[in-house]
Amino acid sequence: MDKLVIHGPTKLKGEVTISGAKNAAVAILPATLLINGICRIENLPNISDVKMSCKILEALGAKITWITENEIEIDTRDICCTQAPLEMTSKFRASYYLLGSLIGRCGIAEVGLPGGCNLGARPIDQHIKALEALGAKVDVAQGKITAKAKKLVGTSIYMDIVSVGATINAILAAVLADGTTTIDNAAKEPHIVDVANFLNTMGADIRGAGTDVIKINGVKELRGGTSYSVVPDQIEAGTFMLAAVASKGNILIKNCIPEHLDCITAKILEIGGNVENYDDSIRVSMNKRPSKAIVKTLPYPGFPTDLQPQIGSVLAIAEGTSTIHESIWESRFQYTFELNKMGAKITAQGKSAVLEGVKLLTGAPVYATDLRAGAALLIAGIIANGETQLYNIEHIDRGYENIEEKFRNLGANIQRVTEPDEN
Ligand code: EPU
Repeated sequence: MDKLVIHGPTKLKGEVTISGAKNAAVAILPATLLINGICRIENLPNISDVKMSCKILEALGAKITWITENEIEIDTRDICCTQAPLEMTSKFRASYYLLGSLIGRCGIAEVGLPGGCNLGARPIDQHIKALEALGAKVDVAQGKITAKAKKLVGTSIYMDIVSVGATINAILAAVLADGTTTIDNAAKEPHIVDVANFLNTMGADIRGAGTDVIKINGVKELRGGTSYSVVPDQIEAGTFMLAAVASKGNILIKNCIPEHLDCITAKILEIGGNVENYDDSIRVSMNKRPSKAIVKTLPYPGFPTDLQPQIGSVLAIAEGTSTIHESIWESRFQYTFELNKMGAKITAQGKSAVLEGVKLLTGAPVYATDLRAGAALLIAGIIANGETQLYNIEHIDRGYENIEEKFRNLGANIQRVTEPDEN
C-alpha cells in the first residue's frame, strides 16, 4: 500500500496546471456508448476512476486506443454486452451512468449498485424515477439494477432533489428517445454542461444545460467522428486555491475557468486572501492568518461539497471560530477526526462542524477516509509542523492526477512510499 510522507510547513509558490474534470470524464466515457462510431476524447485526467471507466467500456465491447495518457480514441460500433461487470461497477459511484447510456443504446442495462466514497446514504431514487418516466421498467435486486424498455419516449421529469447524477442519467437516457424530454429542477454544475456539450458535438440536441430546465429533443443517432476536450476540473482548481490560502503561499493556477470558481474566490476574499482572475488562470495569494468564516455547501453555483474538507483545513488554522454546514452528504466530516490528530480543534456533529482556529497544526499519521478528505489532509500535512504520514491514498488517486508531483513543483516536501503488505 502506498502512503504519502509530507514534511512541513511549506509556503506553496509557483504555477500548477489543472487537469480535465473527473466528474465530467466519468460521465462522458459512458456517454460514448450512445455513439455508433469512433470519437476522440482529449484532456482526460490520468486517474484511477477514468482507468476503471475505460476497463468497463472495454468489457462491454468498446475498443479503446490510448493516444497519450490524457487522450483516447474510442470505437463503440461493436457494443455487444448490456451487463456491466459487477465487480467493476460496484467499485465506483459513476457506474450509475451506464444505466442511462446502455438503456439509451440497447434498450436494456444491468449494472451493479454503485460504490464510491463513503459519504453516507447515497440513494438513486431520482435516477430510477427519471428512467421510469421515460418508459423503462427498473428492478433493483441482488445488488444490481436492471432497466429495460422497448422504446424510451420523451417526457417531463421533475427532479425532487437537485442531483448531478440523476440529471446526467436522465440526459443520457433521453438523447436517443422518441420526442422531447424536459428536466425541471436540474443540477447546474459545470460537468453537466460539459456532458451536454460533448453529446451535442456528437449530434445530440440538448438545450439549457447549466440552467435548471434542460430540454432534450431525441435524435435518431449520434455520429461520432469528431473529438472533444474535457472541461478543466473545478474541484482540483479549488483545491489548489485553498492550498495557497492555507499555506500563506502564492500560486498561479493555469488551465481553469475562473467563472466556475466564483464562490470559492468570494470565500477566499472574505477570509483575507487575494485573488486575481485572468482568462484561463487564477492567481491566489495570502500573507496572513485567514479569518473565521461561515461556510454552507450547496449545489452549483453554491459552495461545492467537494471542497468542504479542503476549506476545513484552511479554517482549522483561522483566527476565531468558524462553522461549516454540510447540506449535501451526511458523513462528510470524517476528516475532522484526522485533523484533530494534527492539533485542530473541530467538533463535528451531524451536518455541522465548529472549528476553533489554532495557530499551527502538527504532523501526525492520518488516514484519508475519502477522496476530498485525502486532499484536505494533504493540505494539512503541507502546512503542519513536522512529518505527516498520509495513509489510504488510493482514495486520492481516484480523482487527482499526479497530485504529489503538482504539489512538489510548488515547493512541498512530499514522498510517495510503498509499504510492503502485512500478509
Ligand atoms: N440524492 C437522492 N436521490 C438520488 C440522487 C441523489 O436523494 O437519486 C441526494 C444525495 O443523497 C445527495 C444529493 O441528492 O444528498 C446530491 O447528490 P448528487 O446526485 O448530486 O450526487 P452524485 O451525482 O452521486 C456527484 C459527484 C460527487 C459530488 C456530488 C454533489 C460524481 C461522480 N460525483 O455525486 O463527487 O459530491 O455530485 O456535487 O459526479 C467527489 O468528486 O468527491 C464526489 C463525491
